[in-house]
Amino acid sequence: MILYEEPLRMELLGRNIYINGNPRSFSTRKLSDMKDVLMSFPKNELDPALYFMYRDIMKIDDIRYDITVIPPRIVGKEYVKTYGHYHTKSQSGKEYPELYQILSGGAIFIMQKRNNNESVEVVIVQAEKGDVILMLPDYGHVSINPLEEVLVMGNLVYDGFESQYGEYKKNNGAAYYYTNERMLVQNQNYIIKDMKKMKPSETLYKYGIVVSDLLKEFKENPEKFSFLKNPSF
Ligand SMILES: [Fe+2]
Repeated sequence: MILYEEPLRMELLGRNIYINGNPRSFSTRKLSDMKDVLMSFPKNELDPALYFMYRDIMKIDDIRYDITVIPPRIVGKEYVKTYGHYHTKSQSGKEYPELYQILSGGAIFIMQKRNNNESVEVVIVQAEKGDVILMLPDYGHVSINPLEEVLVMGNLVYDGFESQYGEYKKNNGAAYYYTNERMLVQNQNYIIKDMKKMKPSETLYKYGIVVSDLLKEFKENPEKFSFLKNPSF
């Protein structure tokens, strides 16, 4: 699958991504790595790799472009998903935002923000190929592949922080699970104060962001994405 011809040639072949003909290193998340965040842990399975992360496809001024590939799979009672994490706080006091774009397939993003009283506010976004989505400042995020085809996503994010996985581990995953019956089921470990669905474009519009191709526009005009490093929302 050819993902890009310009500004660089990016091809996905099996587990490998080739950039201008050269394979990129990647890290994997296996089933056993996910045991703390699944609705139910499938028994009698081997330990397959569930998704693949290719970091630093491009890096300019401490902002990096990564790829994540999530092949289709049911894991226990859920559609396959990422582990989930929060970002750390920037100087603005807000946690760093992040931009995603769907390059192939479709995704459901579960975003959640912690309140002082231990409750969470949830935003759920369903996205298709081509959509750009902002992971809202102060919201943690999980990406789900709800389809029977491979999900490929690009993301742009500030390179100066480590993802925070603790809340997801402690609470057995995100505030909602997306089950094999295509239902959103609440995770009982959370008190949900508010849940709303947003379109991909609404996440951008909320912050006045206009972008149609993350990688091309990042290469042409990296300054445009400096808000990922210095958010001033
Ligand atoms: Fe993130």
